[in-house]
Amino acid sequence: MKIALPKERRPYEYRVAVTPDMVKKYQALGFSVAIEAGAGKDAMFSDEMYKAAGASIVPDAAELLKDANIVLKVQRPMNDTESIDEISMLKSGAILIGMLNPYNSRKDIEKYAEASITAMTMEFMPRITRAQEMDVLSSQSNLAGYKAVLDAAEHFGKVIPMMMTAAGTIVPARIFVMGAGVAGLQAIATARRLGAVVSATDVRPSVKEQVESLGAAFVMVENEETKEAETSGGYAKEMSEGYKIAQAQLIAETIKKQDIIICTALIPGRAAPILVNEEMVKTMKPGSVIVDLAVEQGGNCALSEVGQVVEAHGVKIVGHRNMPSRVPTDASALYARNLYNFIAAIFDKETGKIVLDWNDEIIREVTLTHQGSIVHSKFVSAG
Ligand code: NAI
Repeated sequence: MKIALPKERRPYEYRVAVTPDMVKKYQALGFSVAIEAGAGKDAMFSDEMYKAAGASIVPDAAELLKDANIVLKVQRPMNDTESIDEISMLKSGAILIGMLNPYNSRKDIEKYAEASITAMTMEFMPRITRAQEMDVLSSQSNLAGYKAVLDAAEHFGKVIPMMMTAAGTIVPARIFVMGAGVAGLQAIATARRLGAVVSATDVRPSVKEQVESLGAAFVMVENEETKEAETSGGYAKEMSEGYKIAQAQLIAETIKKQDIIICTALIPGRAAPILVNEEMVKTMKPGSVIVDLAVEQGGNCALSEVGQVVEAHGVKIVGHRNMPSRVPTDASALYARNLYNFIAAIFDKETGKIVLDWNDEIIREVTLTHQGSIVHSKFVSAG
């Protein structure tokens, strides 16, 4: 069985789906691993490192993919409307695993089915205890939360910790984290490590304890509605108009006193909630910084722009794309480990084959297409 690692060709993507360490682990399972030349370069993994781990290096994508049984990617392969058609290079029956962004790439799902590819999307991994080690959203959001605080520090004209010097005392920065999920909790921890005075908000009251255990204050509008704000999967629901008004009042009061805001609030499958409007930005001190991690889903701040650092009313609003890719080495290491854990879980050592057990919710949730058909319940009608 051959595993192939083609290059990531989408813009702003610097991660890679297999690291040299994982090459060794796949070989121990009995796989051979082939890498497209330069595939790990942006994540600081050279061809020599892959070669030393036992992978073969192939200069050409078509050559690499034509006989690959499993193809591992970070982002979805390029299609026939783009610069190079990677989907057409995959062999019939191949298994493609990556973050395939299915909600925004429905046409590609049809293409995987037409090409008889088994396409598996890692973002749909159920958030159950057994799958935690395969949870790419958590591994990547965690790093995004960390990097967001460092990006804020870079654009902030002051220092974060309190400093008592002979020349005077510097007061610690006040950092407010909006959304206390995986990214938000890591942002809180990172801000605390840097010495900030940290507070955070969310619509799920269950996170209060986690926020406080990290040494941050928790502020939220808590009412009857927030008792139901969490789905069975642990995600937030969209809140009512009445709640949004009450929340906006609280946020407006809180924001005035902050130096840095880290926005991480998301609602799965929907646009991100707008939590910081222009009026609120106006009340912030000049030199304050907002980092909007939700920018690619529409943004939590009304003024943030994808891929830009904009200045409005004296406040810098940072809207970098693909935050995990800004720490590509560790993001790749964790992502590659998530993929390995998944493959090891569905690999049958006795027969040397991948086994897709349709009774397993992990397989049902992540598999989009199989044997020429769209099989995922969310997309079946699209076929
Ligand atoms: P996410 O990325 O979808 O959302 C980020 C945060 O924004 C969430 O905490 C959400 O409640 C919050 N949010 C949404 N709308 C908001 C609003 N209007 N105002 C303020 N905050 C708002 O969520 P993420 O980080 O992927 O995970 C959410 C939860 O999922 C975790 O806290 C945990 O409970 C659960 N989870 C469970 C795992 C497991 O294996 N059991 C693994 C990872 C997460």
